[in-house]
Amino acid sequence: MQHKKVTVFNGDDASPEVMKPTVELLQKLDLPITFEFPLVGDIAEKKYGKILPDETIASIDSADATLFGSTSGQSTAALFYLRWGKQTYANVRPCQWIPGYQSPMANPEGIDFIIVRENLEDLYLGLEGNIEDLHALNFYSKHARSSLTDLGPGRYAIKAITEAGSERVIRFAFELASKRAAKKKVTLTSKYNMLSQVDGLFRDIGMQVSQNYPDVEFESFIVDDFLCRMITNPHALDVVVMPNLYGDIMSDGAAGLIGGLGLAPSGCYGDDYAYFESAHGTAPDIAGQNIINPTATILSAVMLLDYLGFTEQAGTLNQAVTQVYSEGKVIPVDQGGNASTSGFCNAIADYL
Ligand code: IPM
Ligand code: MG
Repeated sequence: MQHKKVTVFNGDDASPEVMKPTVELLQKLDLPITFEFPLVGDIAEKKYGKILPDETIASIDSADATLFGSTSGQSTAALFYLRWGKQTYANVRPCQWIPGYQSPMANPEGIDFIIVRENLEDLYLGLEGNIEDLHALNFYSKHARSSLTDLGPGRYAIKAITEAGSERVIRFAFELASKRAAKKKVTLTSKYNMLSQVDGLFRDIGMQVSQNYPDVEFESFIVDDFLCRMITNPHALDVVVMPNLYGDIMSDGAAGLIGGLGLAPSGCYGDDYAYFESAHGTAPDIAGQNIINPTATILSAVMLLDYLGFTEQAGTLNQAVTQVYSEGKVIPVDQGGNASTSGFCNAIADYL
């Protein structure tokens, strides 16, 4: 087995409480992986004079992948580097119900779809500012419903959808769908009626890319309609691709369908790098209580192992999660049980 290096950020607030035991579980699998824990945020600034020191960037760059704990500020600089610096354009967020998850749905059995969220563009460019700074542009669009100069003081944010950025993430979604045993379907969603230019382009590219995948069914829905469908008939979905902000919102909603954010893993893939993080935040309200659900982080680690080529061990760790939930004896608090974070991780460890 080839030796691998994984860079780990424990994250902020309650995040280290799930990240540390997850790394311990990975270590228990006895794989040829070296873990590195570089500094970020205030603590890095004290030691190196920068919140994202060159040493930390070097650790990310030289690793085969990064495992990233949720951030509420301290490690945000690393998150931005992992996304834009490493060009991880496809954020893959699986939504799969397994017995033991406390879904609010009457029939959660069989919910198994994946959101592929474009991860770098759309409204996430950080190009925001004062509306009056745009007056000088004399900006005109035949699609405009109001004029910039008539608007009073306020702020703007630029939403950009590029051809190349859309093409690569939509292609990623089709590749993923064609490898899945299930329905082999890609559903695209965006607000292509109201935002006919930007979101319309995303859909047009989807239709073009779909021509290259005759074995994969393709459909598209306007995002508000999509949300209703996702809630009323999630079983019909297989792989869903959408621009960045919708993907951020829909993936939290998708987690809600199966039982909550504690269960939502994710992986962000570029052409030559990937990093893995749960879809949830840092849960500051329950920090320090040893009750945060580690499932999302453990399942993100499963995706990491798959990416590194440790397919068998990824299966073992995944199976351990399935077993513990289906037995129903050691269930985290957010899923209606009374297991602590460490109690749940110990139960997983017993299966490894
Ligand atoms: C996520 C998070 C991030 C996002 C935040 C922490 C910047 O909500 O990964 O879903 O909006 O992408
Ligand atoms: Mg989010």
